[in-house]
Amino acid sequence: MNLLIMGKPGAGKGTQAKKLLEHYKLTHISTGDIYREEMKNNSKIGIEAKKYISQGNLVPDDMTNEIVKKVLSTHKYPNGFMLDGYPRTDAQADALDATLNDLGIKLTAVINVDVRDDVLLHRMAGRRVCSNCGHPYHVDYHPPKVKGICDFCGGHLVQRPDDLEDAVMNRLNIYNEKTRPLLQHYQKQGLLRIIDGGKTSDEVFNDIVSKLGE
Ligand code: AP5
Ligand code: MG
Repeated sequence: MNLLIMGKPGAGKGTQAKKLLEHYKLTHISTGDIYREEMKNNSKIGIEAKKYISQGNLVPDDMTNEIVKKVLSTHKYPNGFMLDGYPRTDAQADALDATLNDLGIKLTAVINVDVRDDVLLHRMAGRRVCSNCGHPYHVDYHPPKVKGICDFCGGHLVQRPDDLEDAVMNRLNIYNEKTRPLLQHYQKQGLLRIIDGGKTSDEVFNDIVSKLGE
């Protein structure tokens, strides 16, 4: 099963991806997580990406396409993969189509997690992530067992710099302008599954699993 998970910033892509990976034993490929790891390591890619990410802008397509192509072509995915946060532009969707075609891989479905803007803003304002493993929490909806500490690895929870108000508004505008139009691309291919992401995360998960079963 090879899936794409799409949706506005803060829609719950990462949260659902983690649940789906466990359920279907998929490999998670999140371009946002890849960039955050590179930034943590202060690598050349991380230093370059930080200029864009901290403002809520997209990292240039060439750089992102090259990373995803390398990840898809150099790893094995025995049960399939879940791409999270990619593609986000026309050029990325075209590059992904070409890479999958070259590798002889077909997408099973594209999940779009649909959430109202006021709900997203509240989710991003309250989001905290583990500074070590990246696991997402929310101060109201998914608090950790011990305040400020990751349930899984004991790392400290922090706020993402791009969850501050100016960067969030920029991310939403960019989504509307560049990423939302891609839904049509996948609708035409008969792959799009739209999910109401405004419910609790367990309900959203159950809805996705039943849609995929259809
Ligand atoms: P990325 O990391 O992909 O960020 P994003 O798309 O903006 O999405 P988020 O990770 O913010 O939200 P999410 O949908 O995963 O929500 P989450 O599950 O955490 O990208 C970051 C940046 O990297 C980009 O802005 C860009 O600069 C760069 N980048 C990445 N990919 C790129 C690409 N392809 N091209 C160019 N640049 C790229 O949930 C949010 C919060 O809500 C959490 O606190 C969670 O606990 C809570 N929550 C989740 N679900 C629910 C629920 N059902 N009910 C209540 N609370 C919930
Ligand atoms: Mg995410």
